[in-house]
Amino acid sequence: MTDFPKTPEIIPSLFAADPLHYCEALKAVERFGCRRIHLDIMDGHFVPNISFGASVVAAVAKECPQLFREVHLMVQNPQQHFEAFIKKSGAQRLFIHIELAPEVLEETVRCLQSKAVDWGFAVNPETPLETLQVYKGWISNTQHLLLMSVHPGFCGQTFIEETYERIKELRECFPHLKLCIDGGIRTLEAQRLHELGVESVVMGSAFFKKVSV
Ligand code: DX5
Ligand code: ZN
Repeated sequence: MTDFPKTPEIIPSLFAADPLHYCEALKAVERFGCRRIHLDIMDGHFVPNISFGASVVAAVAKECPQLFREVHLMVQNPQQHFEAFIKKSGAQRLFIHIELAPEVLEETVRCLQSKAVDWGFAVNPETPLETLQVYKGWISNTQHLLLMSVHPGFCGQTFIEETYERIKELRECFPHLKLCIDGGIRTLEAQRLHELGVESVVMGSAFFKKVSV
């Protein structure tokens, strides 16, 4: 990773690559020595955009089996898709949004707890961190948290500066969590996030612009 000095681990988001050239994009991800790939699933309801589905995740697994597949579910009813993502496409970590309707969230978490898959919560920029206290019990049983630094739905947005403060607060409340920051991250933000002790960052547009795919 000589091109990204002193940054957290970079996890490229495939959604930001040219959809007609995913294969080349994956080769670039491997060439840069990345170990994980971020797969954004959008259903056009939970977020105002549609991305790709489980068949793309399965194709990634087939093409690059050694890349760890993290699936970010921006969908209204994640449970409906577990079969496809966990069993058929080989997702290795799932992130579900804490902003789901409370009854859906409860059912989703119960279902995830019964499955042999690693999972964590994703948190939107406008969600007060106090909300996380409500779900403290669940969070203490997870290892990873995906903190959004843009409003989910699109790549290529501007990093929301308040994220830095939120990270500090999160670190205090949940020191056991490994944080991954998602959205609007370029080398500059990645370096600052490294200084804050962030473990990993999702990088979409900036990564694929850099590797020109
Ligand atoms: C936004 C997605 C992000 C996005 C990252 O809804 O969750 O993962 O693809 O892309 P950039 O880095 O371009 O913001
Ligand atoms: Zn994402």
